[in-house]
Amino acid sequence: MGGRLPLFRDLLPRGLLGRSVLIILVPILLLQAVALQLFYGGHLDVISRRLAGGVAGDVAMLVELLQRETIEDRSWIFREASWRLDLALAFEAGARLNAVERRASMPLLPLEEDLNRALEERLRLPFDTDWQSDPRSVIIRVQTPDGVLHVEAPRKRLFTATLYLFVIWLVGSALLLSAVAVVFMKNQVRAIRRLAGAAEAFGLGRDIGTIKPEGAAEVRQAAQAFNRMQDRIRRFVGQRTDMLAGISHDLRTPLTRMRLALAMLPRSADTEEDLSALTADVEEMERMIAAYLAFARGEGTEQAAPADLVELVQEVAAKARRSGATVEVVAPSGLMLPLRADALRRCLGNLLDNARRHGRLIMVAVDTVSRGEPGDEAAPAWAQITVDDDGPGIPAAGREAAFRPFASGAPGGTGLGLAIARDIVRAHGGEIALEQSPLGGLRARLRLPV
Ligand SMILES: Nc1ncnc2c1ncn2[C@@H]1O[C@H](COP(=O)(O)OP(=O)(O)OP(=O)(O)O)[C@@H](O)[C@H]1O
Ligand SMILES: [Mg+2]
Repeated sequence: MGGRLPLFRDLLPRGLLGRSVLIILVPILLLQAVALQLFYGGHLDVISRRLAGGVAGDVAMLVELLQRETIEDRSWIFREASWRLDLALAFEAGARLNAVERRASMPLLPLEEDLNRALEERLRLPFDTDWQSDPRSVIIRVQTPDGVLHVEAPRKRLFTATLYLFVIWLVGSALLLSAVAVVFMKNQVRAIRRLAGAAEAFGLGRDIGTIKPEGAAEVRQAAQAFNRMQDRIRRFVGQRTDMLAGISHDLRTPLTRMRLALAMLPRSADTEEDLSALTADVEEMERMIAAYLAFARGEGTEQAAPADLVELVQEVAAKARRSGATVEVVAPSGLMLPLRADALRRCLGNLLDNARRHGRLIMVAVDTVSRGEPGDEAAPAWAQITVDDDGPGIPAAGREAAFRPFASGAPGGTGLGLAIARDIVRAHGGEIALEQSPLGGLRARLRLPV
Protein backbone atom coordinates (compact mmCIF):
# COMPACT_ATOMS: atom_id res chain seq x y z
CA MET A 1 0.00 0.00 0.00
CA GLY A 2 3.00 2.24 0.52
CA GLY A 3 3.59 2.60 -3.22
CA ARG A 4 0.85 5.07 -4.12
CA LEU A 5 0.23 6.99 -0.93
CA PRO A 6 3.54 8.91 -0.91
CA LEU A 7 2.90 9.94 -4.52
CA PHE A 8 -0.41 11.56 -3.56
CA ARG A 9 1.17 13.14 -0.51
CA ASP A 10 3.99 14.55 -2.65
CA LEU A 11 1.42 16.37 -4.78
CA LEU A 12 -0.13 18.13 -1.78
CA PRO A 13 1.28 21.50 -0.81
CA ARG A 14 3.39 21.15 2.32
CA GLY A 15 2.57 24.46 4.00
CA LEU A 16 -0.55 25.20 6.04
CA LEU A 17 -1.42 28.12 3.77
CA GLY A 18 -1.39 26.01 0.61
CA ARG A 19 -3.32 23.21 2.27
CA SER A 20 -6.05 25.40 3.68
CA VAL A 21 -6.54 27.20 0.38
CA LEU A 22 -6.78 23.79 -1.25
CA ILE A 23 -9.34 22.69 1.33
CA ILE A 24 -11.49 25.70 0.42
CA LEU A 25 -10.91 25.62 -3.30
CA VAL A 26 -11.39 21.93 -4.10
CA PRO A 27 -14.98 21.61 -2.79
CA ILE A 28 -15.97 24.89 -4.45
CA LEU A 29 -14.57 23.85 -7.81
CA LEU A 30 -16.14 20.39 -7.52
CA LEU A 31 -19.50 21.87 -6.61
CA GLN A 32 -19.36 24.34 -9.45
CA ALA A 33 -18.29 21.72 -11.96
CA VAL A 34 -21.21 19.50 -10.95
CA ALA A 35 -23.64 22.44 -11.14
CA LEU A 36 -22.30 23.40 -14.53
CA GLN A 37 -22.61 19.89 -15.87
CA LEU A 38 -26.04 19.14 -14.41
CA PHE A 39 -27.73 22.41 -15.14
CA TYR A 40 -25.98 23.99 -18.05
CA GLY A 41 -24.84 20.81 -19.80
CA GLY A 42 -28.41 19.67 -20.47
CA HIS A 43 -29.99 23.09 -20.73
CA LEU A 44 -27.53 24.43 -23.24
CA ASP A 45 -27.87 21.37 -25.45
CA VAL A 46 -31.58 21.89 -25.74
CA ILE A 47 -31.24 25.59 -26.50
CA SER A 48 -28.56 25.01 -29.06
CA ARG A 49 -30.64 22.37 -30.84
CA ARG A 50 -33.71 24.60 -30.91
CA LEU A 51 -31.82 27.58 -32.28
CA ALA A 52 -30.20 25.44 -34.98
CA GLY A 53 -33.63 24.02 -35.79
CA GLY A 54 -34.99 27.57 -36.26
CA VAL A 55 -32.25 28.64 -38.64
CA ALA A 56 -32.39 25.35 -40.57
CA GLY A 57 -36.18 25.69 -40.87
CA ASP A 58 -35.87 29.22 -42.25
CA VAL A 59 -33.24 28.12 -44.77
CA ALA A 60 -35.29 25.14 -45.87
CA MET A 61 -38.37 27.32 -46.23
CA LEU A 62 -36.46 29.84 -48.34
CA VAL A 63 -35.04 27.14 -50.60
CA GLU A 64 -38.52 25.77 -51.07
CA LEU A 65 -39.94 29.22 -51.86
CA LEU A 66 -37.17 30.09 -54.29
CA GLN A 67 -37.79 26.95 -56.29
CA ARG A 68 -41.47 27.79 -56.75
CA GLU A 69 -41.03 31.42 -57.78
CA THR A 70 -39.99 32.79 -61.13
CA ILE A 71 -36.57 34.38 -61.47
CA GLU A 72 -38.09 37.92 -61.29
CA ASP A 73 -39.76 37.34 -57.93
CA ARG A 74 -36.65 35.99 -56.31
CA SER A 75 -35.29 39.45 -55.54
CA TRP A 76 -38.41 40.07 -53.42
CA ILE A 77 -37.69 36.93 -51.41
CA PHE A 78 -34.06 38.03 -50.97
CA ARG A 79 -35.16 41.38 -49.57
CA GLU A 80 -37.75 39.88 -47.22
CA ALA A 81 -35.25 37.29 -45.94
CA SER A 82 -32.74 39.99 -45.29
CA TRP A 83 -34.94 42.19 -43.13
CA ARG A 84 -37.41 39.76 -41.63
CA LEU A 85 -35.12 36.76 -40.99
CA ASP A 86 -31.74 38.45 -40.79
CA LEU A 87 -30.46 36.09 -43.51
CA ALA A 88 -28.40 37.45 -46.43
CA LEU A 89 -29.02 35.42 -49.59
CA ALA A 90 -27.07 35.17 -52.83
CA PHE A 91 -27.67 32.80 -55.75
CA GLU A 92 -25.00 31.40 -58.02
CA ALA A 93 -26.84 30.04 -61.06
CA GLY A 94 -25.46 26.85 -62.57
CA ALA A 95 -22.73 26.43 -59.90
CA ARG A 96 -21.98 23.11 -58.17
CA LEU A 97 -20.91 22.42 -54.63
CA ASN A 98 -17.42 21.02 -54.38
CA ALA A 99 -17.48 17.58 -52.75
CA VAL A 100 -13.91 17.94 -51.39
CA GLU A 101 -14.77 21.23 -49.76
CA ARG A 102 -17.80 19.65 -48.17
CA ARG A 103 -15.76 16.99 -46.50
CA ALA A 104 -13.22 19.54 -45.29
CA SER A 105 -15.71 21.33 -43.11
CA MET A 106 -16.06 18.70 -40.41
CA PRO A 107 -18.04 19.88 -37.40
CA LEU A 108 -15.78 21.19 -34.65
CA LEU A 109 -18.12 22.49 -31.97
CA PRO A 110 -21.39 20.96 -30.77
CA LEU A 111 -22.97 24.06 -32.25
CA GLU A 112 -21.81 23.19 -35.76
CA GLU A 113 -22.92 19.62 -35.36
CA ASP A 114 -26.37 20.72 -34.22
CA LEU A 115 -26.76 22.98 -37.24
CA ASN A 116 -25.60 20.27 -39.64
CA ARG A 117 -28.02 17.77 -38.19
CA ALA A 118 -30.94 20.23 -38.30
CA LEU A 119 -30.14 21.14 -41.91
CA GLU A 120 -29.93 17.46 -42.88
CA GLU A 121 -33.33 16.84 -41.35
CA ARG A 122 -35.16 19.76 -42.92
CA LEU A 123 -33.39 20.49 -46.20
CA ARG A 124 -32.97 17.09 -47.91
CA LEU A 125 -30.55 18.71 -50.39
CA PRO A 126 -26.72 18.65 -50.47
CA PHE A 127 -25.26 21.53 -48.47
CA ASP A 128 -22.20 22.67 -46.59
CA THR A 129 -21.50 25.15 -43.83
CA ASP A 130 -18.60 27.54 -43.55
CA TRP A 131 -17.71 28.80 -40.08
CA GLN A 132 -14.24 30.03 -40.98
CA SER A 133 -14.74 32.89 -43.44
CA ASP A 134 -16.54 35.29 -41.11
CA PRO A 135 -16.22 35.38 -37.33
CA ARG A 136 -19.68 36.90 -36.88
CA SER A 137 -21.74 34.76 -39.22
CA VAL A 138 -21.97 31.30 -40.68
CA ILE A 139 -22.37 30.72 -44.41
CA ILE A 140 -24.64 27.91 -45.48
CA ARG A 141 -24.39 26.79 -49.11
CA VAL A 142 -27.21 24.72 -50.56
CA GLN A 143 -27.06 22.80 -53.81
CA THR A 144 -30.38 23.40 -55.61
CA PRO A 145 -31.13 21.83 -58.99
CA ASP A 146 -30.28 25.08 -60.87
CA GLY A 147 -27.36 26.47 -58.82
CA VAL A 148 -25.91 27.13 -55.36
CA LEU A 149 -27.71 29.28 -52.79
CA HIS A 150 -25.49 31.13 -50.29
CA VAL A 151 -27.16 31.96 -47.00
CA GLU A 152 -25.27 34.12 -44.54
CA ALA A 153 -26.78 33.75 -41.06
CA PRO A 154 -25.55 35.76 -38.08
CA ARG A 155 -24.06 33.54 -35.36
CA LYS A 156 -26.17 35.36 -32.81
CA ARG A 157 -29.14 33.39 -34.09
CA LEU A 158 -27.43 30.10 -33.17
CA PHE A 159 -25.75 30.85 -29.97
CA THR A 160 -26.29 32.12 -26.43
CA ALA A 161 -23.60 33.81 -24.39
CA THR A 162 -25.00 32.87 -20.97
CA LEU A 163 -22.69 29.87 -20.69
CA TYR A 164 -19.65 32.14 -20.86
CA LEU A 165 -21.14 34.50 -18.33
CA PHE A 166 -21.82 31.59 -16.05
CA VAL A 167 -18.28 30.19 -16.39
CA ILE A 168 -16.78 33.63 -15.78
CA TRP A 169 -18.95 33.98 -12.71
CA LEU A 170 -17.89 30.55 -11.41
CA VAL A 171 -14.18 31.09 -11.98
CA GLY A 172 -14.36 34.66 -10.69
CA SER A 173 -16.13 33.67 -7.49
CA ALA A 174 -13.63 30.84 -6.89
CA LEU A 175 -10.73 33.24 -7.38
CA LEU A 176 -12.28 35.85 -5.13
CA LEU A 177 -12.94 33.27 -2.41
CA SER A 178 -9.42 31.91 -2.53
CA ALA A 179 -7.98 35.44 -2.43
CA VAL A 180 -10.00 36.15 0.71
CA ALA A 181 -8.93 32.80 2.17
CA VAL A 182 -5.26 33.51 1.43
CA VAL A 183 -5.44 36.89 3.15
CA PHE A 184 -7.07 35.43 6.27
CA MET A 185 -4.96 32.28 6.42
CA LYS A 186 -1.76 34.25 5.99
CA ASN A 187 -2.33 35.89 9.36
CA GLN A 188 -2.97 32.53 11.02
CA VAL A 189 0.07 30.98 9.43
CA ARG A 190 2.21 33.93 10.47
CA ALA A 191 1.16 33.45 14.10
CA ILE A 192 2.04 29.74 13.97
CA ARG A 193 5.36 30.46 12.27
CA ARG A 194 6.25 33.02 14.92
CA LEU A 195 5.45 30.49 17.63
CA ALA A 196 7.62 27.84 15.95
CA GLY A 197 10.47 30.34 15.62
CA ALA A 198 10.18 31.31 19.27
CA ALA A 199 10.22 27.67 20.39
CA GLU A 200 13.28 27.02 18.22
CA ALA A 201 15.10 30.08 19.57
CA PHE A 202 14.26 29.16 23.17
CA GLY A 203 15.63 25.65 22.55
CA LEU A 204 18.87 27.21 21.37
CA GLY A 205 19.17 29.07 24.63
CA ARG A 206 18.41 32.52 23.21
CA ASP A 207 16.39 34.82 25.41
CA ILE A 208 13.25 35.70 23.50
CA GLY A 209 11.00 37.03 26.25
CA THR A 210 7.29 36.20 26.28
CA ILE A 211 5.66 36.10 22.88
CA LYS A 212 2.48 38.00 22.09
CA PRO A 213 -0.46 35.65 21.56
CA GLU A 214 -2.15 36.35 18.23
CA GLY A 215 -4.23 34.64 15.56
CA ALA A 216 -7.02 32.10 16.10
CA ALA A 217 -8.02 30.98 19.60
CA GLU A 218 -6.09 27.70 19.35
CA VAL A 219 -2.93 29.42 18.19
CA ARG A 220 -3.26 31.97 21.00
CA GLN A 221 -3.71 29.11 23.42
CA ALA A 222 -0.56 27.45 22.14
CA ALA A 223 1.34 30.74 22.48
CA GLN A 224 0.11 31.18 26.04
CA ALA A 225 1.02 27.60 26.88
CA PHE A 226 4.44 28.20 25.36
CA ASN A 227 4.91 31.32 27.48
CA ARG A 228 3.95 29.45 30.64
CA MET A 229 6.27 26.58 29.77
CA GLN A 230 9.11 28.97 29.06
CA ASP A 231 8.52 30.59 32.40
CA ARG A 232 8.47 27.28 34.25
CA ILE A 233 11.64 26.05 32.57
CA ARG A 234 13.40 29.30 33.35
CA ARG A 235 12.31 29.10 36.96
CA PHE A 236 13.34 25.45 37.17
CA VAL A 237 16.78 26.12 35.71
CA GLY A 238 17.16 29.09 38.02
CA GLN A 239 16.25 27.01 41.07
CA ARG A 240 18.59 24.21 40.09
CA THR A 241 21.44 26.64 39.52
CA ASP A 242 20.76 28.45 42.77
CA MET A 243 20.70 25.19 44.67
CA LEU A 244 23.93 23.98 43.08
CA ALA A 245 25.63 27.28 43.79
CA GLY A 246 24.29 27.31 47.35
CA ILE A 247 25.47 23.80 48.20
CA SER A 248 28.86 24.39 46.61
CA HIS A 249 29.25 27.65 48.40
CA ASP A 250 28.21 26.26 51.79
CA LEU A 251 30.54 23.25 51.48
CA ARG A 252 33.45 25.46 50.64
CA THR A 253 33.83 26.99 54.09
CA PRO A 254 33.99 23.73 56.09
CA LEU A 255 36.33 22.26 53.48
CA THR A 256 38.69 25.23 53.80
CA ARG A 257 38.53 24.82 57.57
CA MET A 258 39.36 21.13 57.21
CA ARG A 259 42.32 21.84 54.93
CA LEU A 260 43.69 24.43 57.38
CA ALA A 261 43.17 22.09 60.33
CA LEU A 262 44.95 19.30 58.47
CA ALA A 263 47.88 21.60 57.77
CA MET A 264 48.17 22.47 61.43
CA LEU A 265 48.01 18.91 62.78
CA PRO A 266 51.26 17.72 64.27
CA ARG A 267 52.97 15.33 61.86
CA SER A 268 54.94 12.25 62.65
CA ALA A 269 56.37 9.48 60.49
CA ASP A 270 53.32 7.33 61.31
CA THR A 271 50.67 9.80 60.33
CA GLU A 272 52.48 11.57 57.49
CA GLU A 273 51.19 9.28 54.75
CA ASP A 274 47.57 9.37 55.89
CA LEU A 275 47.63 13.10 56.40
CA SER A 276 48.96 13.92 52.97
CA ALA A 277 46.38 11.54 51.44
CA LEU A 278 43.63 13.32 53.39
CA THR A 279 44.97 16.71 52.33
CA ALA A 280 44.99 15.58 48.70
CA ASP A 281 41.37 14.40 49.02
CA VAL A 282 40.26 17.66 50.57
CA GLU A 283 42.04 19.63 47.88
CA GLU A 284 40.33 17.55 45.20
CA MET A 285 36.95 18.23 46.82
CA GLU A 286 37.71 21.93 46.79
CA ARG A 287 38.57 21.77 43.09
CA MET A 288 35.35 19.92 42.33
CA ILE A 289 33.33 22.45 44.24
CA ALA A 290 35.07 25.31 42.46
CA ALA A 291 34.15 23.64 39.14
CA TYR A 292 30.52 23.26 40.27
CA LEU A 293 30.36 26.86 41.31
CA ALA A 294 31.83 28.07 38.05
CA PHE A 295 29.42 25.88 36.10
CA ALA A 296 26.39 26.94 38.10
CA ARG A 297 27.25 30.63 37.85
CA GLY A 298 27.94 30.55 34.14
CA GLU A 299 24.88 28.62 33.13
CA GLY A 300 22.47 30.51 35.30
CA THR A 301 23.10 34.01 34.09
CA GLU A 302 24.80 34.08 30.74
CA GLN A 303 22.76 34.99 27.65
CA ALA A 304 23.65 34.11 24.09
CA ALA A 305 25.01 37.09 22.14
CA PRO A 306 26.57 37.30 18.67
CA ALA A 307 30.30 36.64 18.97
CA ASP A 308 33.18 35.55 16.77
CA LEU A 309 33.68 31.83 17.28
CA VAL A 310 37.11 31.85 15.65
CA GLU A 311 38.35 34.61 17.93
CA LEU A 312 37.08 32.67 20.92
CA VAL A 313 38.86 29.49 19.77
CA GLN A 314 42.11 31.40 19.24
CA GLU A 315 41.80 32.84 22.74
CA VAL A 316 41.35 29.42 24.34
CA ALA A 317 44.22 27.99 22.26
CA ALA A 318 46.52 30.83 23.36
CA LYS A 319 45.67 30.09 26.98
CA ALA A 320 46.46 26.40 26.48
CA ARG A 321 49.80 27.35 24.89
CA ARG A 322 50.67 29.44 27.92
CA SER A 323 50.20 26.35 30.10
CA GLY A 324 52.68 24.46 27.95
CA ALA A 325 50.64 22.80 25.18
CA THR A 326 51.48 22.67 21.48
CA VAL A 327 48.28 23.85 19.78
CA GLU A 328 47.70 24.37 16.09
CA VAL A 329 44.54 26.12 14.92
CA VAL A 330 43.04 25.86 11.44
CA ALA A 331 40.14 28.29 11.06
CA PRO A 332 38.52 30.75 8.67
CA SER A 333 39.07 34.45 9.32
CA GLY A 334 35.87 34.88 11.30
CA LEU A 335 32.53 33.21 12.06
CA MET A 336 29.83 35.15 13.89
CA LEU A 337 27.11 33.28 15.73
CA PRO A 338 25.06 33.65 18.89
CA LEU A 339 27.20 32.26 21.73
CA ARG A 340 27.37 32.13 25.49
CA ALA A 341 30.98 33.12 25.29
CA ASP A 342 32.06 32.34 28.87
CA ALA A 343 30.39 28.96 28.86
CA LEU A 344 31.83 28.03 25.50
CA ARG A 345 35.29 29.15 26.61
CA ARG A 346 34.99 26.80 29.56
CA CYS A 347 33.78 24.01 27.28
CA LEU A 348 36.68 24.36 24.84
CA GLY A 349 39.07 24.85 27.75
CA ASN A 350 37.98 21.48 29.16
CA LEU A 351 38.53 19.76 25.80
CA LEU A 352 41.98 21.32 25.30
CA ASP A 353 42.85 20.49 28.89
CA ASN A 354 42.00 16.83 28.28
CA ALA A 355 43.96 16.79 25.04
CA ARG A 356 46.98 18.41 26.71
CA ARG A 357 46.89 15.88 29.53
CA HIS A 358 46.72 12.86 27.22
CA GLY A 359 48.75 13.93 24.19
CA ARG A 360 51.55 16.20 23.07
CA LEU A 361 50.16 17.79 19.90
CA ILE A 362 46.72 19.41 19.70
CA MET A 363 44.99 20.39 16.47
CA VAL A 364 41.88 22.57 16.56
CA ALA A 365 39.88 23.14 13.36
CA VAL A 366 36.87 25.42 12.85
CA ASP A 367 34.62 24.93 9.86
CA THR A 368 31.00 25.15 8.69
CA VAL A 369 29.18 22.07 7.46
CA SER A 370 25.72 21.55 5.99
CA ARG A 371 23.18 19.80 8.20
CA GLY A 372 21.37 18.13 5.31
CA GLU A 373 22.55 15.69 2.68
CA PRO A 374 25.91 16.58 1.12
CA GLY A 375 25.35 19.13 -1.64
CA ASP A 376 22.08 20.38 -0.19
CA GLU A 377 22.94 24.08 -0.11
CA ALA A 378 19.60 25.18 1.30
CA ALA A 379 19.93 23.19 4.54
CA PRO A 380 20.96 25.20 7.60
CA ALA A 381 24.61 24.97 8.55
CA TRP A 382 26.51 23.84 11.64
CA ALA A 383 29.61 25.54 12.88
CA GLN A 384 31.95 22.63 13.54
CA ILE A 385 34.94 22.55 15.84
CA THR A 386 37.20 19.51 16.09
CA VAL A 387 39.81 19.08 18.80
CA ASP A 388 42.37 16.36 17.96
CA ASP A 389 45.24 14.99 20.00
CA ASP A 390 47.92 12.35 19.45
CA GLY A 391 47.44 10.60 22.81
CA PRO A 392 46.13 7.08 23.47
CA GLY A 393 42.50 8.02 22.75
CA ILE A 394 39.47 6.23 24.20
CA PRO A 395 38.25 2.90 22.79
CA ALA A 396 34.91 3.30 20.97
CA ALA A 397 32.97 1.41 23.64
CA GLY A 398 34.11 3.76 26.41
CA ARG A 399 33.45 7.09 24.64
CA GLU A 400 29.85 7.56 25.74
CA ALA A 401 30.76 6.70 29.36
CA ALA A 402 33.42 9.43 29.39
CA PHE A 403 30.62 12.04 29.23
CA ARG A 404 29.11 10.83 32.50
CA PRO A 405 29.91 13.07 35.48
CA PHE A 406 32.60 11.66 37.74
CA ALA A 407 33.47 9.05 35.14
CA SER A 408 37.10 9.96 35.55
CA GLY A 409 39.68 7.22 35.82
CA ALA A 410 42.56 9.65 35.80
CA PRO A 411 44.12 10.88 39.04
CA GLY A 412 43.75 14.60 39.58
CA GLY A 413 40.65 14.84 37.40
CA THR A 414 37.16 15.44 38.75
CA GLY A 415 35.55 13.65 35.84
CA LEU A 416 33.34 16.65 35.17
CA GLY A 417 35.15 18.14 32.16
CA LEU A 418 33.30 16.31 29.39
CA ALA A 419 29.96 16.36 31.22
CA ILE A 420 30.16 20.13 31.51
CA ALA A 421 31.27 20.43 27.88
CA ARG A 422 28.27 18.45 26.71
CA ASP A 423 25.88 20.48 28.89
CA ILE A 424 27.19 23.72 27.40
CA VAL A 425 27.06 22.51 23.80
CA ARG A 426 23.51 21.24 24.27
CA ALA A 427 22.43 24.54 25.81
CA HIS A 428 23.54 26.09 22.51
CA GLY A 429 21.32 23.66 20.59
CA GLY A 430 24.38 21.78 19.36
CA GLU A 431 25.90 18.35 19.87
CA ILE A 432 29.26 16.90 20.83
CA ALA A 433 30.75 13.48 20.14
CA LEU A 434 34.04 11.67 20.65
CA GLU A 435 35.72 9.95 17.71
CA GLN A 436 38.98 8.42 16.57
CA SER A 437 41.39 11.20 15.62
CA PRO A 438 43.51 11.04 12.46
CA LEU A 439 46.38 12.07 14.75
CA GLY A 440 46.01 8.73 16.54
CA GLY A 441 44.38 9.96 19.74
CA LEU A 442 40.94 11.31 20.53
CA ARG A 443 38.88 13.70 18.46
CA ALA A 444 36.13 15.74 20.08
CA ARG A 445 33.70 17.04 17.46
CA LEU A 446 31.43 19.95 18.40
CA ARG A 447 28.60 21.25 16.29
CA LEU A 448 26.77 24.49 16.98
CA PRO A 449 23.82 25.84 15.01
CA VAL A 450 24.76 28.94 13.00
N1 LIG B 1 41.90 13.48 24.99
C1 LIG B 1 41.71 12.36 25.71
N2 LIG B 1 42.45 11.27 25.47
C2 LIG B 1 42.25 10.15 26.21
N3 LIG B 1 41.31 10.03 27.18
C3 LIG B 1 40.55 11.09 27.47
C4 LIG B 1 40.69 12.31 26.74
N4 LIG B 1 39.80 13.19 27.22
C5 LIG B 1 39.14 12.55 28.22
N5 LIG B 1 39.57 11.31 28.37
C6 LIG B 1 39.10 10.30 29.34
O1 LIG B 1 37.77 10.63 29.70
C7 LIG B 1 37.67 10.84 31.09
C8 LIG B 1 36.69 11.91 31.40
O2 LIG B 1 37.19 13.17 31.01
P1 LIG B 1 36.69 14.47 31.71
O3 LIG B 1 37.32 15.63 31.06
O4 LIG B 1 35.22 14.40 31.81
O5 LIG B 1 37.25 14.30 33.17
P2 LIG B 1 38.73 14.55 33.68
O6 LIG B 1 39.54 15.12 32.61
O7 LIG B 1 39.14 13.24 34.27
O8 LIG B 1 38.47 15.59 34.84
P3 LIG B 1 38.31 17.19 34.72
O9 LIG B 1 38.30 17.50 33.29
O10 LIG B 1 37.00 17.45 35.40
O11 LIG B 1 39.44 17.73 35.43
C9 LIG B 1 39.09 11.17 31.52
O12 LIG B 1 39.33 10.81 32.85
C10 LIG B 1 39.91 10.33 30.57
O13 LIG B 1 40.02 9.01 31.05
MG1 LIG C 1 39.06 16.83 31.66
